[in-house]
Amino acid sequence: MASNGSYTASGITKAFSGVGVLHGIDFMVRPGTIHGLFGHNGAGKSTLLKILAGAQPQDEGILSVGPDVVTLSSPRDALAKGIACVYQELRLIPNLTVAENLFLGREVSLHGVKRSAEMNSYSQRLLSEYGMSTDVTRPVKSLSHPEKQLVEVIANLDGRAQFIFLDEPTTALDGQQSAELLGHVRRIALERNVGIVLVSHKLDEVLSVCDEATVLSGGRVVYHAVGGDLSKQAIVDAIVGDAHAHANDFKRHKTPAGEVYLRVKNLSGARLKGVDIEARRGEVLGLYGLVGSGRTRFLRSLYGMDPVASGEIEIGGAPYKPSTAKAAIRSRIALLTEERKIDGFIPLMSAYQNVVLSSLSRYRKAGFVQVSTARAAARKTLSRIGTRGKLDGPIKSLSGGNQQKVLLARIIEQNADLILLDEPTKGVDIGAKSDIYQIIQTLADQGKCIIVVSSEEEELMDICDRIAVFQHGRCNGQASAVSDLTVGQLREAAWAPAA
Ligand SMILES: Nc1ncnc2c1ncn2[C@@H]1O[C@H](COP(=O)(O)OP(=O)(O)OP(=O)(O)O)[C@@H](O)[C@H]1O
Ligand SMILES: [Mg+2]
Repeated sequence: MASNGSYTASGITKAFSGVGVLHGIDFMVRPGTIHGLFGHNGAGKSTLLKILAGAQPQDEGILSVGPDVVTLSSPRDALAKGIACVYQELRLIPNLTVAENLFLGREVSLHGVKRSAEMNSYSQRLLSEYGMSTDVTRPVKSLSHPEKQLVEVIANLDGRAQFIFLDEPTTALDGQQSAELLGHVRRIALERNVGIVLVSHKLDEVLSVCDEATVLSGGRVVYHAVGGDLSKQAIVDAIVGDAHAHANDFKRHKTPAGEVYLRVKNLSGARLKGVDIEARRGEVLGLYGLVGSGRTRFLRSLYGMDPVASGEIEIGGAPYKPSTAKAAIRSRIALLTEERKIDGFIPLMSAYQNVVLSSLSRYRKAGFVQVSTARAAARKTLSRIGTRGKLDGPIKSLSGGNQQKVLLARIIEQNADLILLDEPTKGVDIGAKSDIYQIIQTLADQGKCIIVVSSEEEELMDICDRIAVFQHGRCNGQASAVSDLTVGQLREAAWAPAA
């Protein structure tokens, strides 16, 4: 791009089927700086980024770089003009290798032959700069979700873009990884004079690297500040508005734990090397560990989604052998997955339909599903957790955080006894987070056995009774009471070298 000016959006409006989503947004990204973009779920952040990055046209308003008006016909066109975007739902191609994904659209070729060796060694070096040791010849589909997230962000940071937009780039990363990634983002902004926009619900993390902040609410700018004028409290107030005056006020009260409900002994399988766990009814057990330590894999194995090689499992005193997700549901197990796009929801079904998907049998009478009863139940649960958007339209048109709430509503509706939650507040705004914490508390009070995986240490400390640590595919079955733990101790345990 010739000009070295700021990227400016003026008076941007956007409506979907007549419903206004953005109402005249003014927004600016300056080269060499990071602009944080915040707001409640459904506020319009992703929609604004998509318009800025050429993935969707605005209805009205003007985009310009320096003095020049720009029109973007597609993301590819935007990229050619130096504008790159990492979307909330990842875009990597699952069947290609990590290296092939990193080089997508810019393959190194000589006489028409792809130079794979060169691409691979470059990619491996690039990943190691970001502290990743993942083998770049592995297909992307074999990577964990956080690994995919990192690869996608790295791919975009490595390009030649002058403006880079990152939509919730750290949702699946642990504290340490997020800090490292944001450090790189900061460096790239400064060293290459790139203008960066960061969308995130993790305020503290992002504010530590921002030069400028904007808050959207209901499709309007309700807060904007630069440099020393930035105030975290003002941002929180602007995000939660009146709708969620109770944000961050969740107080956990301990439920007296009941009998041991889940007992796992020496569970092994692909990349699980011996997991011992005991969890009780009425208890919220947290699982902590680094990315790749096996927490997600453990939950998926219990649910029959990943194969198990050996070990013993007892649920409610009876032996249990994971086989399929269907069988798991019959055994009264529910799983909220981290990767909603892949094994979470059915994109073209409505929010209501997605909620009742696993509990339809309850609404069957004389062979017929009682649709209106099922729908009413779904509606009640969705509104309890403050889901916003068009709930009878396809779920894929809901905002990211609201999709997460639909999945959670499905779990609640399932009324299972063993509830496995992988990153339950991923992409959820700070107001709705306390709603979700409250729901987890209520489920524990009902005597359910709940296991939560979260990369946010504070979240685990706030909502769990005990926390067990995973390391290199192992867990020794010892869980410490949260009251005896500090975040520092958790990290130390997770980082301890392999035995
Ligand atoms: N393709 C679409 N069709 C219909 N409505 C849409 C579409 N995309 C977004 N919307 C609606 O626009 C509004 C803003 O959504 P957007 O994804 O921009 O929110 P967001 O601020 O990114 O929220 P989150 O924090 O949950 O990711 C929401 O009400 C959403 O349902
Ligand atoms: Mg979004």
